[in-house]
Amino acid sequence: MSSAALSETLARTAPLYERVAKVIPPVEWPVFARDIDAILELKRARNAVILAHNYQTPEIFHCVADIVGDSLALAREAMKVDADVIVLAGVHFMAETAKLLNPAKTVLIPDMQAGCSLASSIAAADLRLLRQRYPGVPVVTYVNTSAAVKAESDICCTSGNARKVIESLGVPEVIMLPDEYLAQNVAAETGVKIISWAGHCEVHERFTAAEIRGLRAAHPGVVVLAHPECPPEVVAEADFAGSTAAMAGYVDTKRPARVVLVTECSMSDNVAAAHPEVEFVRPCNLCPHMKRITLPKIRRALETMRHAVEVDPAVAAKARRAIERMLTV
Ligand code: 13P
Ligand code: SF4
Repeated sequence: MSSAALSETLARTAPLYERVAKVIPPVEWPVFARDIDAILELKRARNAVILAHNYQTPEIFHCVADIVGDSLALAREAMKVDADVIVLAGVHFMAETAKLLNPAKTVLIPDMQAGCSLASSIAAADLRLLRQRYPGVPVVTYVNTSAAVKAESDICCTSGNARKVIESLGVPEVIMLPDEYLAQNVAAETGVKIISWAGHCEVHERFTAAEIRGLRAAHPGVVVLAHPECPPEVVAEADFAGSTAAMAGYVDTKRPARVVLVTECSMSDNVAAAHPEVEFVRPCNLCPHMKRITLPKIRRALETMRHAVEVDPAVAAKARRAIERMLTV
């Protein structure tokens, strides 16, 4: 790119840089600006929208995404999309959910390898065996699963609505898959007996209660917000537990002077970019799957229209039922 062209790109993207100036040093911006400029043009040309999860890096989250949020918000918003193409800046199960809710649209994921330790912890055959073992017990499946697992389920949930979904069933016992810690955390809130599965999020399982106590000692007055995929002893040490959207909402409304988000690392950058008045303490656990999504890969996805996510229609019909049932709760 010539220096004149770069100057034009920098001028066009200057308002976007203001959104992330607190978390991206000026020296790094020109590299991002080139891809951002190209992506904005490609979105117009392809009639595409970008849905980005809260764990995406700030240059994606604040500069190219049209819709951002937690898993529940992305599923809800995916249903309202008017564009021809959806690019999911997140992991594979999120793109699959968007496709299930929009079968006629092209749904692209910039890297097919962007998986999830929870989604890969369970297969549809495992769920069928559990049903045989616990006949008649309803199955609540976390959205962090494949379409094939959703298709075997009665209803889905996210971390944002797990309690509501379980209480909506009005039964004393449920099977809840595959996140053991989310299941234990929800069981403690609801009093419903939960049969769980030994799946864990590889990001949240690494936090410990001792680490949280250490953070409180090192950063007096820090408000601790934890994701319910953390082990119960970590949630017990926190001041508040909730989905990524609930944590961001807490900072937006309560504006604590000092806060730690016990969750994936980029989330703090994204919330910090909008809250210069709040001090963020940052233990940094990255999700290797979320971090596979980058600006160059988003650009390439829109240039080549790859990788399109497809779901077997027979599986899709059943999986969609479980998601739609969740969305009505
Ligand atoms: P939520 O954004 O729904 O809280 O989910 C967190 C997560 O780990 C998604 O992969
Ligand atoms: Fe899966 Fe955890 Fe990564 Fe979310 S953060 S995609 S739950 S591994």
